[in-house]
Amino acid sequence: MNVKDLCELAITATDKSYSPYSGCKVGAALLTKGGKIYTGCNIENSSFSPTICAERVAFAKAVSEGEREFKAIAIAAKKDGKLATFTPCGVCRQVMSEFCDDDFTVLVVTSDGIYKEYVLAELLPASFKLD
Ligand code: THU
Repeated sequence: MNVKDLCELAITATDKSYSPYSGCKVGAALLTKGGKIYTGCNIENSSFSPTICAERVAFAKAVSEGEREFKAIAIAAKKDGKLATFTPCGVCRQVMSEFCDDDFTVLVVTSDGIYKEYVLAELLPASFKLD
């Protein structure tokens, strides 16, 4: 799976977004070290706080299927039908740090249709971990 294909899967996953309150359709595609892919979308709620981001839906799907080792995630978002740049929120970064190494790749599809590539260590430096 190359990075461009992973980004395409994230863009496609935005179609499943349930986001009547923000109008932001977010999609994620999570690649395991074994080569499997789990997608996710954001799922909003009228009470707001139960809203879950696309990234965490993808992790929940994967971890609940027994996956523990991850290589990369791609994230895409659309607002008003157009691509928008959404870098992962702090809660999602913390969830990534639970399961992923410092060199875990985070691909963010940008509003101009290309992608930016990060590693987890630069998005969440000095992360909290229990010894
Ligand atoms: N959202 C995500 O799905 N991922 C992020 O990393 C940031 C925000 C969602 C949550 C909410 O449904 C909408 O985007 C606007 O915040």
